[in-house]
Amino acid sequence: MKLTSSLRCFSSISKMIDFYSQFSPSSLSIKQFIDFGLNACERKSFLFLRKELPVRLANIMKEIHLLPERLLKTPSVILLNSWYAQSFKEILEFEKNVADTVVLDRFCKTLIRIRNRHADVVQTMAHGVMELKEVCTIDTHTEHSIQYFLDRFYMSRISIRMLINQHTLLFGDEVLSDSQTRHIGCIDPLCDVVSVVRDAYDNARFLCDQYYLRSPELIVKEEHSLQSNVSIKIVYVPSHLYHMLFELFKNSLRAVVEHHENVSDLPKINVYVVCGKEDICIKISDRGGGIPRSVSDQLFNYMYSTAPKPTVSDVHTVPLAGYGYGLPISRLYARYFHGDIMLLSCDGLGTDAIIYLKALSDEANELLPVFNKNSTRYYRTIIPTGDWSGARGFHSRTIFPSLRNLSN
Ligand SMILES: Nc1ncnc2c1ncn2[C@@H]1O[C@H](COP(=O)(O)OP(=O)(O)O)[C@@H](O)[C@H]1O
Ligand SMILES: [Mg+2]
Repeated sequence: MKLTSSLRCFSSISKMIDFYSQFSPSSLSIKQFIDFGLNACERKSFLFLRKELPVRLANIMKEIHLLPERLLKTPSVILLNSWYAQSFKEILEFEKNVADTVVLDRFCKTLIRIRNRHADVVQTMAHGVMELKEVCTIDTHTEHSIQYFLDRFYMSRISIRMLINQHTLLFGDEVLSDSQTRHIGCIDPLCDVVSVVRDAYDNARFLCDQYYLRSPELIVKEEHSLQSNVSIKIVYVPSHLYHMLFELFKNSLRAVVEHHENVSDLPKINVYVVCGKEDICIKISDRGGGIPRSVSDQLFNYMYSTAPKPTVSDVHTVPLAGYGYGLPISRLYARYFHGDIMLLSCDGLGTDAIIYLKALSDEANELLPVFNKNSTRYYRTIIPTGDWSGARGFHSRTIFPSLRNLSN
């Protein structure tokens, strides 16, 4: 009896996933988040989210189902699937509710519960991929599909958390700190870029000092394209910017210290914050010896790392490096609002990491994965074999990217 009812429930949930995944997620700009937040109406937000959240969840759940069978069967991915199904179900319970105060209050609490349930999604998914790699060798095609999927999966998660945070911060009773009083939800309309830079550097430096017992100094310069002396401010989510900077600083600090093992003076890290017409750029230049060109294609691959894996005893501390998730996740944060992160390296000397952020909040639109025939095809396409001699794997595709497009 119990089994029949759970099977019925499963089939009705998968029907609802099919239904909601037919809609494309509605991308919002930072300006829209701000405008909505300024005239915050809880009822409107509820009506929007009770459709938009199931749409975003269903779009990504359909993609999870396209993962290789062996990955889907790992205990981590089974657990993760159950979180997504449970959260999807919980939001659908509001599908037909009238938006009275009791329902609105319950909705807010449900969102907080969902956010807590999904707190460990990144680690759990990463663990699933590791479990798969432990039991079998992964071919290039599977490797590519997993990379493609993880970018979309983690991006979807960033976007869902953004929606949940906006609603719960605007309408829940979470207490704000003094510095957050001007915030609109999690967006700071006057985010002081240099102060986030210093904050991220200080915390990365603390880890570096703990690990190596020394660390390089920081120099920050600000430049406006239009002559002005006020510090550069951006309408942005400070926690996203902090995340990117913290990861890039940890990488630079580690590289500088390791490259100057037997040298007493460490070269400083230079940061330029520049406000241009289109973008605000933050360039972090280090003298950490750079990155060989042969591995530059792999930098944004999940799990690519040249650092020793953190040990089990490191689980409750923040490690300086070692999981290989720093760069790919930071780039997703940048791309989420149509920015980017690029690394340019001079092998033997050092690396420039540049964060690009849209200077105008109405151009900073959410970049969201959409489940459709194209995305489905990606998981099924076999990558063509190379048609140039001596150029193998990743490298051949970088040298001849246009040829790859032709052969597709
Ligand atoms: N500034 C840098 N200088 C030299 N190597 C770097 C720099 N930034 C990143 N790397 C290389 O890229 C790899 C991946 O970085 P990341 O994704 O942050 O993962 P992790 O720091 O956990 O290794 C690093 O292990 C390192 O080899
Ligand atoms: Mg790192």
